Amino acid sequence: MPAVEALPTPNRTKPLYDPSEATVVFVLGGPGSGKGTQCAFLVRDYAFKHLSAGDLLREEQDRPDSEFGEMIKDYIKDGQIVPMEVTIQLLENAMTASIEKDNKRLFLIDGFPRKMDQALKFEEAVVPSKFTLFFDCPEDVMQERLLNRGKTSGRSDDNLESIKKRFRTFVETSMPVVEHFESEGRVVKISATKLPEEVYEDVKGALKEKGIEIPVFKFSVPDSSAAAS
Ligand code: ADP
Ligand code: C5P
Ligand code: MG
Repeated sequence: MPAVEALPTPNRTKPLYDPSEATVVFVLGGPGSGKGTQCAFLVRDYAFKHLSAGDLLREEQDRPDSEFGEMIKDYIKDGQIVPMEVTIQLLENAMTASIEKDNKRLFLIDGFPRKMDQALKFEEAVVPSKFTLFFDCPEDVMQERLLNRGKTSGRSDDNLESIKKRFRTFVETSMPVVEHFESEGRVVKISATKLPEEVYEDVKGALKEKGIEIPVFKFSVPDSSAAAS
């Protein structure tokens, strides 16, 4: 695999953002546990900016001038974790753009951190997270969902061979991150096997307990112009 020294990990004495400037909720769970689905509900109802590490990596992979495109492609197909320098920089850039352009400072970071080094580095150099939402789902359920998603997703890793590798990476590399945050009392575990809307009810309850509410401007107001036209 090509080296990534071209992109040094931020080496700061303190995080770029204070938690009062940027709120981060990590969203973790196995492949196919429903992270993206639940994040879409949350974006509809709350003031969150959704940043999916996988989506950012796929975007970078497809960017014509990217020096990391080929590397990212290989890692994703193989279900491996892309070196943290790349992913942290992509996330940091996206967060800064959201803050500077839209003053959006409430982040759902989906599918990250997937490895202990990413977890430690991000909280040390970017911002400490508020807590982690963890979607708990058995492998057989996730496998069925992913094979189904693979019929239309066009993703290079939604096939049985890649799915098996992703499950191994999840158990060996990503679960230790969840266990680390859990040992600090910073994880809310949600069972992800029910219908999406039912899982979402539990998610909303968890956010409420953490003091994150649906903002007033997101409550739907009847649109009188729609009735007139
Ligand atoms: P992740 O982002 O964790 O990999 P997704 O949100 O993309 O997972 O969901 C994987 C697949 O499973 C998608 O096709 C999605 O529509 C479906 N799915 C998500 N949540 C549920 C659920 N609670 N029950 C059944 N299918 C679901
Ligand atoms: O979250 P998603 O399923 O979209 O991630 C797809 C792939 O992107 C992962 O299997 C992995 O190869 C890569 N990835 C990564 N590091 C992350 C998130 C995703 O290497 N933090
Ligand atoms: Mg996803």
